[in-house]
This record gives sequence, C-alpha cells and structure tokens, in this order.
Amino acid sequence: MINFKQKIAEMIANTIEANKEELETYIEKPKTIANGDYAFPCFKLAKTLKKAPQAIAEGIKEKIKLDETLIEKVEVVGGFVNFYVNKETLAKEVLLELSKTEEYGKSDLGKGQKIIVEYSSPNIAKPFHIGHLKNTIIGHCLYNVYKYLGYNTISLNHIGDYGTQFGKMIEAYKKWGDEYDFTQEPIEKMADLYVRINNLCAEDEKVLEECRETFKKLENGDPYCVEIWNRFKDLSLEEFEKIYKLLGVEFDFVDGESFYSDKMQEVIDILKNNGKATESEGALVVNLEDDGIKTPCIIQKANGSSIYATRDLAAILYRTREYNFDKCLYVVGIEQDLYFKQIFATAKYLGIADKYVKGLEHVSYGLIRLPEGKMSSRKGNFVTTNDLLNETIKKASEIISDRDIENREEIAKKVAMGAVVFNNLSENRIQNQVFDLNAALNFQGETGPYIQYTYVRTKSVVEKAGGVPEIADVNFDVLTDDYSKNVLKLIYNFEEVLVQVTDKNEPSILSRYLIDLAKAFSTFYNENKIIVDDKNVQNARVYLTYAVGQVLKIGAKLLGIEMPNKM
Ligand code: ARG
Repeated sequence: MINFKQKIAEMIANTIEANKEELETYIEKPKTIANGDYAFPCFKLAKTLKKAPQAIAEGIKEKIKLDETLIEKVEVVGGFVNFYVNKETLAKEVLLELSKTEEYGKSDLGKGQKIIVEYSSPNIAKPFHIGHLKNTIIGHCLYNVYKYLGYNTISLNHIGDYGTQFGKMIEAYKKWGDEYDFTQEPIEKMADLYVRINNLCAEDEKVLEECRETFKKLENGDPYCVEIWNRFKDLSLEEFEKIYKLLGVEFDFVDGESFYSDKMQEVIDILKNNGKATESEGALVVNLEDDGIKTPCIIQKANGSSIYATRDLAAILYRTREYNFDKCLYVVGIEQDLYFKQIFATAKYLGIADKYVKGLEHVSYGLIRLPEGKMSSRKGNFVTTNDLLNETIKKASEIISDRDIENREEIAKKVAMGAVVFNNLSENRIQNQVFDLNAALNFQGETGPYIQYTYVRTKSVVEKAGGVPEIADVNFDVLTDDYSKNVLKLIYNFEEVLVQVTDKNEPSILSRYLIDLAKAFSTFYNENKIIVDDKNVQNARVYLTYAVGQVLKIGAKLLGIEMPNKM
C-alpha cells in the first residue's frame, strides 16, 4: 500500500532544508478528523530554521507541490500543517490490498529474527489461578502477533515442576496419600495436601528439614521420589491441558524447571570461576550492587539444593545455544519484578554475548482479582480458572438461550472465551484489574462479545447482499463520505497497530483498535444504507462491510478469540 506518511515527508522535504527520514518521524496522526489525517508539527524545526513555527508551516503550505491523487488538501493551523489524504485513493489502496489475501496485515517484517515467548508457566500440584490465566492470554496474543509479522517465534511453557515444595508434596503423599482419590479433582486434592504439609512444617521444624532432604533426594534421582513426582506432574498437566484446549493454546516446548536440573552446575561453575559467586552463610550468592540492585541473587542454598533462580540462569544459557534468540520475553506477573532484574543482571556474568542479555525482557502484568464475595469456590479461599471458565460458559449460554441458532453450545463457548480473553487484554497489561463477568459478557459494552457481534453483523449484511461483490465491481468514489473514510483509515492502520503491539509488547493496543473499528463500523452502518437499489453504491458499501469483518476476524484471532458465524 502507499505509505502516506512517507509521501508527505517527501513533499515537505522539497520545501525546506531537512532530511526526509527525519521529517517522517515528526508526522502525527491527529485524533480528530478536523485536524486532518496527518499533521506536521513545525515546533522542532523552529530552532534550526530560526523562524516561528507558524511561519514555517505557512512557508511549507505555500511552497509544497501537492500530488492530488495522494493529498487533496493542506491547511495550516497554528504551528501545524494538516494533510488530508485523497479519499478515493485511500479506499482503493485499502480494499485492493484486502481483496488480494485472506491474511490482510500479515508481513515478513520480522524475517530473520527469532523471538521466544515464554508464558503461562503454572506450577505443578497447585491450582491454575486466574493470574496464570491472564498470563496465558497475554503470552498467546504476543506469540500470535509476532508470528503474523514474520518473526520466527517460539512458545515455551516454563512449568514450575521443581523445588523444595516437591519435597513437601512427596512427604505429604507419604503421610496422607491413601486418604485421597486422585482420579477426581486432582488439583484440589494436591492443593489440600500442600496446605496440610505446610501447616505441619510451620509447627515442626524437623518436618521442614525432612522435606528439604526429600527434595535433595528427588534431585539425586531417587526412584520412589521421582515416581510420585511424575504422578503429580501428569495429573496437573492433564488439568492444565483442558484450559489450554478451551483457549486454543498450544506450546512449541513445555520444558519445566526440572528440565534444567542437569544444566545448573555449569552456571555455578561459571559464576564461581569468574569470582562473581561468593559464599554467604553457607549459601552461594551473586552480589549485584554494582548493577544497582541491593538484594543479592542466591544461586545455591546452604544444603546444596538448587533454587528457582539457578534454573532460570541455566535456562538462559540453554536458550542462547539452542535457539540463538534475538528476544526472549518472559510473561510473568509484576510481583516478580525484582527477581527478573536480579536474573537479567546476573546473566551478564554468564559469558554470553551482549545481544542475548539485551534481548531478555520481563513482560509483566498487574494483579487480577474477582469482585469481593463473588464466585468463591467450594473451598472458599480460591477460584480456579476452571471454575471461572465454566461459570462464564454457563452465563453465555443463558444469554443466547432465546436465540434461534444452531450449535448453541459451541457458540456459547466461543462467546464465553471471547469475553474472558478480551477482558484480560482490554487494559494496559500493567494495570490491576477486577474481573467482572457480567461486564465482560455485555454485548453492548467494550467487550469480546461486542466484537464478535459486530463481526456477525457484517456477515449477515454481506449475506443479505448475495455475497462478497467482485472487487472489480467496486467503485471507490462511493466511499468518500466521512463515515466510510473513518473505517478505511482504521483498516489502513492495521499493520501499524500490530507493529506497535510488538514494540511495546502490549496486546491492549490491538484490543482497543478492534473496539474503535467496530464502533466506526456501527456509525457507518447507522448513517449509510448498505442494501440499496443503486448497485454501484451497494457493491462498494458491501465490500467495505466485508473488509471490516475480515479485519475484525483476523484481529480477534490474533488476540486468541474465535468468531462465531451466528450469535
Ligand atoms: N511458575 C512461576 C509462577 O507461577 C512462573 C515462572 C515464570 N518463568 C520463569 N522463567 N521464571 O510464579
């Protein structure tokens, strides 16, 4: 497609002494149409040109040679030059491009670059809580978008399947395992075991010591310990798999923390040999004061056991060699902020190339909780993700129960997942959030179901018109009213929006965009009759409707949301 920004920068560069690449970076997209489609602020040039911004703007307007097939109008407002794109050209560019492919906005921008997205990473024998759900949804979206932009993208699930807690779990199983039937609700039962053993450990230091020893046994490959640990793992993964299936999530690799258990000694050796690791009360620590971090990073406990951090450092070494990544993103909650600062600082001393250290990034997110008193589980103290998803599906089912549609169950599932996924991506990821089921399922709100509903509406309009018109039958100058133009501008921006998502690792940029597009379409739909006698008008408007449906569908899919055909 024509790059309007670039063209405008070229036109401006012919009027003043300045570099066109630099000028392009100054160009903005005004929020309201009244300030043009693109605006060039002259404030930065005022210094070098020794002139007032408004005078520069007027000079540009006077001298500029407009290519009217691209820009139909230029205005000066204060220190800005505002540009209005040629509406017919815009329509033609966007719709021709869209007509060529089912994958509008896809690109090979990221070609040759490898991105690891590590996400989800729940803990074995513990509930998959709604924080892990949020994590999974964010990571999945980022993975999808990077991939769509042509990056070589790898998804990793760094399952928490190692550490002292497994010493505890094994001890608990030895003591009380017989009391439970693990074929039903295994996670709840494992969680129960964990609570019991923790209580006991709090009462009795000796038990805690035993648990630590048991974890060491597990690390040393004791067959009994390994067998029980494997059982916990299988039971948990089976449960997690149900959630992943509902969300449509798959991983390229599920290498839990234990995967790195035989790769940790190297980390310890490197850090000992280069003098970074020092002994402190029997434990081995890396002092990070030079890096501005007060708390040292512990890499080995006093009893010789490994620790979470050691496994992460071993994983970094492994990933540099195995994947040779350009970026390695860690989608993990904000509460581990300091931890990742420590890990990334320590990574500098592992003797890996600088590019790897620079490529490590913690993609953090805020807390998510449920409204007070709502949906507490049978146990009263936590709501599992399964409970939440099932409850949402039930509610969605109720909402559409009176509609005359086939596959109601299938659709309820898609709507429910659309509600949950969208809601988790609707705000800046760092923001704390309260998950309100009713708000998330509101078809008229800024929600997943609203996006789905708008999509279904585009489908039914196209159907009513007898299908998607041939692009050759579309007369672009029909689409020059403001309502059409608003929609077209948004579609034009789609790829840029995806690039912004990867620049900031921020899925909400895409979710907000889809809301804007759905709203712009609604206005277009309310203001313009689409099915009309004049086939010339109808074809163009139906085509634009189809285009909106395509972009909503592709965008939603990238968020991790499937579209129903009816709703
Ligand atoms: N399992 C951890 C948790 O639930 C998250 C793991 C994050 N990833 C990592 N490489 N440390 O808190």
